[in-house]
Amino acid sequence: SLNMAETEQELPSSVLGTYDHWDEVYKDEMKGLVEMDDPGTEWFGRSATNRVVRWITKCAELNKHSTILDVGCGNGLLLLALAKQGYTNLVGLDYCQSALDLASAVFKKEGLGHVGSWLQVDLTIGNEEQAIFDVCLDKGTYDAVSLNPEDSNKGRESYIQNMATLMNCSSVFIITSCNWTTSELTSHFGKKFNFIEELPAPTFSFGGKSGKTVSTCVFKKKN
Ligand SMILES: C[S@@+](CC[C@H](N)C(=O)[O-])C[C@H]1O[C@@H](n2cnc3c(N)ncnc32)[C@H](O)[C@@H]1O
Repeated sequence: SLNMAETEQELPSSVLGTYDHWDEVYKDEMKGLVEMDDPGTEWFGRSATNRVVRWITKCAELNKHSTILDVGCGNGLLLLALAKQGYTNLVGLDYCQSALDLASAVFKKEGLGHVGSWLQVDLTIGNEEQAIFDVCLDKGTYDAVSLNPEDSNKGRESYIQNMATLMNCSSVFIITSCNWTTSELTSHFGKKFNFIEELPAPTFSFGGKSGKTVSTCVFKKKN
């Protein structure tokens, strides 16, 4: 069978890869939070969140004060699940200020405002952030970057480069994707990262593809 990564094939572009789409989504979800106490969609469902949270709580090298960055944090629900487990150093990054406003409001509403902080960065451009994180998370963000109608290949390259600057060799990177398989992710990230393990998962649909398995993979930065 054809290996997409080897043939350098790109995903068909989609509105899911545009800033305006996400800005609208999070402005809408903010209304939902204010009017109906509903923080919005949990991408890939609760089980995807739980899988990541469980892996972190079981990781012997991490503790409740480990620094955890969620890239493309959206409404912040993945970080909120970690906050509820007692993690105290949580940073959400997104290119959408409306996402960060929403995530911050969600944390405050839960009385957890003091454990979260928020960064507006576009991971396909530059990253001026100098901090190194013990854990970096991505749930659906590399997927969104891959669906950008404008040169997704270059966007993915910058994303991978930027992720490498946020980690050191003991950091872990946990990425959940439904557009790329584990072997595709391993190939894309292979220049900078080593594949460590895959967390098994059910199926979901995204960007017009249905029935594809969600892959959650753990990577570590190469020396
Ligand atoms: C599919 S959503 C996932 C949101 C969240 N991680 C979750 O699991 O619910 C993709 C997220 O990536 C963000 N995003 C897309 N492209 C980005 C970029 N170039 N830099 C930073 N964030 C980006 C979007 O604003 C959106 O919040």
